[in-house]
Amino acid sequence: MRLLAVLLFCWVMAPVAAMADGIPIVIAHRGASGYLPEHTIEAYEKAIDLGADFIEPDLVFTSDGVLVARHDRWLDDSTDVADRPEFAARKTVKPGKAEPDWYAEDFTFAELRTLRARQVFPGRRKADDGKFLIPRFEEILELARDAQVGVYPEAKDPAALAALGHDFTAPLLNALGRYGFGPGGLPVFIQSFDPDFLRGLRNRTRIPLVMLVGVVAGAESVTLEQMAAFADGVGPYKALLIDPQGQDTGYVKRAHRLGLFVHPYTFRDDWVGEGFADIRAELQAFLALGVDGLFTDFVDTAVAVRGVR
Ligand code: G3P
Ligand code: CA
Repeated sequence: MRLLAVLLFCWVMAPVAAMADGIPIVIAHRGASGYLPEHTIEAYEKAIDLGADFIEPDLVFTSDGVLVARHDRWLDDSTDVADRPEFAARKTVKPGKAEPDWYAEDFTFAELRTLRARQVFPGRRKADDGKFLIPRFEEILELARDAQVGVYPEAKDPAALAALGHDFTAPLLNALGRYGFGPGGLPVFIQSFDPDFLRGLRNRTRIPLVMLVGVVAGAESVTLEQMAAFADGVGPYKALLIDPQGQDTGYVKRAHRLGLFVHPYTFRDDWVGEGFADIRAELQAFLALGVDGLFTDFVDTAVAVRGVR
């Protein structure tokens, strides 16, 4: 039943409702990252087991052009690269990060595959550190296809990576097509913080595009009105929707009036938004606003509050 509803959405390309059945989708942010090291096959599998409608891979490139799942181009916080003497000389400083680090685009896929993932967030279970591989995008697509859930890839730093010779557009769209994701097929959204990247994609695909909007209200790179020209939905930082006094800012209504669906990020059982007694109260408040989906590190909690499909 859940799959049928998801497929229906993709076929009709509903401009406002994120799901044809009107039920908000639960997006597993970096997999079940509240429980397992993020962006690993094991974390995505657990998210699917917990009832995720979509799994979210953040994507970067290796030096040999392979799309892999990492939240950042740098590797120190999410892998054991610092413990590998053979890679010590790769540590470097690049624009956008003051401290030296190791970067995915400086490793071949075979080299990256020798690393093991780590839990990034303080206070979360670290017993699985050192066990899991960095997955390539195709492995994630295969998993999602076989489990019949959606994928919600984010292109990370598309301008910087394009300047290094790694353009997301063709590899991303080709991989999705090969595994059957897209209009008329399995459900997918493509997200980015870069409006120019999404504008370029608009001419190449009918896959729903989601403009991500960052933390600081008033500092958005594009307005809702502007993004409505090239995106189908918006992925705002959650505090843009409900202010610290607990008041609805009107963001969801404005976006809906423009035909944009709204998928705020990120809901965390262990890091509840300011002013909420607990995560359930926070989730209920956002669902009451009429959001069309939400990103969460703890899929089971979101599914429990939203209700099982
Ligand atoms: O993509 C939605 C959300 O993940 C954006 O924030 O930094 O966790 O990728 P980030
Ligand atoms: Ca993301």
